[in-house]
Amino acid sequence: MIPRDTVDKIIETARVEEVIGEFITLKKRGANLLGLCPFHGEKTPSFTVSPVKGIYKCFGCGKAGNSVNFIMEHLNLTYPEALKWLANKYSIEVIEKEITPEEKEQLNERESLLIVMQFAARYFVQNMLETDEGRSIGLGYFTERGLRPDIIQKFQIGYSLEERRAFSNAAIKAEYLPKYLVKTGMSILSNTHVEGNEILASEIFDRYAGRVMFPIQDEGGRVVAFGGRTLSSDKKVAKYINSPETDIYHKSKVLYGLSLGKKAIQKNNVCYLVEGYMDVIAMHQAGIENVVASSGTSLTIEQIKAVHRFTNNIVVLYDGDEAGQKASERAIPLLLEEGMNVKLLLFPDNHDPDSYSRLVTAEEFANYLTDNAQDFLIFKARKLSAETKNDPIKKATVIKDLVSSISLIPDAIIRSVYVKECANIMEIEEQILQVEVNKLRRKSGDKQKRTEDETQVTTELSEVLEKKEDKEEIQLIRFEEKELLRLMMNYGNIVILIEGEDDDKVQHSVEMTVDEFIIFELYRDEIEFEDPIHQMILDEFKHEIEQGRLPLLSYFIQHENPAISGFAINNAQINYNLSEKWSKFGVFITDEKNEVKKSSEHFLFSLKDKKLNSFILNLKEDLKVLSHEEIIKTQESIMKLEQNKKRINKLLGRIIIK
Ligand code: GTP
Ligand code: MN
Repeated sequence: MIPRDTVDKIIETARVEEVIGEFITLKKRGANLLGLCPFHGEKTPSFTVSPVKGIYKCFGCGKAGNSVNFIMEHLNLTYPEALKWLANKYSIEVIEKEITPEEKEQLNERESLLIVMQFAARYFVQNMLETDEGRSIGLGYFTERGLRPDIIQKFQIGYSLEERRAFSNAAIKAEYLPKYLVKTGMSILSNTHVEGNEILASEIFDRYAGRVMFPIQDEGGRVVAFGGRTLSSDKKVAKYINSPETDIYHKSKVLYGLSLGKKAIQKNNVCYLVEGYMDVIAMHQAGIENVVASSGTSLTIEQIKAVHRFTNNIVVLYDGDEAGQKASERAIPLLLEEGMNVKLLLFPDNHDPDSYSRLVTAEEFANYLTDNAQDFLIFKARKLSAETKNDPIKKATVIKDLVSSISLIPDAIIRSVYVKECANIMEIEEQILQVEVNKLRRKSGDKQKRTEDETQVTTELSEVLEKKEDKEEIQLIRFEEKELLRLMMNYGNIVILIEGEDDDKVQHSVEMTVDEFIIFELYRDEIEFEDPIHQMILDEFKHEIEQGRLPLLSYFIQHENPAISGFAINNAQINYNLSEKWSKFGVFITDEKNEVKKSSEHFLFSLKDKKLNSFILNLKEDLKVLSHEEIIKTQESIMKLEQNKKRINKLLGRIIIK
């Protein structure tokens, strides 16, 4: 286990905007930062990071948390794993305390797989640089291809020896457990075979042998898989062997080059998409780092979203050959649908980025990229127009093709710009193109609408079920409880002026903090919260205040009890910064700070009112079963309570909150 003071240090150091900024482009918006939410698909940013509060909150999907939560969610890590990731980022030493065997088991599985991969990467690099076979075959190959040593090192490129058990044996000798070697996909168990009545233990051997090895890193830079390229020209041998899907490698989510390239993607606000490992590497050698490859699978939505967090602009650099064209035909519709600006770049004479970068200087290469990227849809319109110049019937069919691409674009304004441009190029009436696009939009829109309606129904249903489960009244009381705690957390230190009269009917006014006011009012009437978590937080407030401290939001956000930190995160007040566009229309969010006294009073009185209600109801129930004498007593109590209720309602009526 990680000791508490180390945890505190990590949390203190890991500034939320810095941690999240490593994965997402954040733009300053008032006191907060704004970006595209990584947890749900969105085209306009509603993911808000508050450096002051140390939290993030998405106004689109509702996900919220602190820096540790973000790493857990985003990199799919457990709490201790996330802490260690952050400790590593900030070079904070973690000396762990003894942990229980169960903790160890759970923590170890994924961690062990990652450690095996780290070992493997180092082992293959060593093979290539320090063995005769590696130097002559592996390193020789790359030298011949013109790769510089610094680039070979940057990508941790290595070599797997011809000997089929070399890696497995080395790993076992270094005391890595065979089960983890198999679970990472680095080693394979040969089929167990039966001899007579005996089942013979299976043998372990390497997945890769006699191949150059490209480590594949996740976004955080940890090796999660390998691509191994054969050096044989035998057509029957698979050119690449990739790691299988494992607990640490999800093919559809990982992009080759992203961890090394994301800073440059963000900085240049454009990402080059290429086909192969070698293309990514060659472009780095030419000084261009904003490049990724989908590596081994065709491009997926998840991979696109991973890039979209850093930029809206993508340039597709697929080969001109048939395989390359097929791949770009699959990838481009997905990119358009995601709302990205898609450009296409072709190299002369069937060159790919790798071969072309070797043909020209780095400067010429960079210039070629900037000068020759063409807007995909315009390119397509020009090409189709040229192909169908004197053939009106053929023209009609290709227009359908163009229309289907345009209709994928989510933004109506951008769509209409393309309609205009493309109509011009194709020499047809804009109106005709627009009508066709609208038709297609409507078709796909219908589909979308139906699913929206369906989700509406299911949420309604779950609401009904929830109500059945919990008594309605308690639910309502919990709302006031929650609001009171929310006010205390966000505005508890604000001093307000409270007026009242003492027993001699003399008017007084006293200054106190919101925290003090609420706690005083609650304890005066001996009110306990219905919700156990709410009560726990209230106790914590009381305890801290008694010690002379004023716990604020950050105290609760970093609380070690996840129920408490969860509550704090969900109720942290971040004002969603509407874009300037909205404020021009006169849309503003009122500043709750100014209203905090009224809000506190409102929720206090309203809570008391509801409490009284339920007392009265209970007493009335009692009336049915009580003796005559008791009934009179109870009726008196009810009357008193009802008077109280009237008084509170009068107070409540005076408070008008905006
Ligand atoms: P070089 O031929 O050395 O330039 O490698 P490359 O990375 O440019 O490969 P190529 O252009 O032939 O293929 C592009 C990408 O497709 C590769 O990087 C691999 O990710 C993938 N790929 C190619 N061949 C295979 C294969 O046989 N199996 C698998 N799984 N993937 C392959
Ligand atoms: Mn290639």
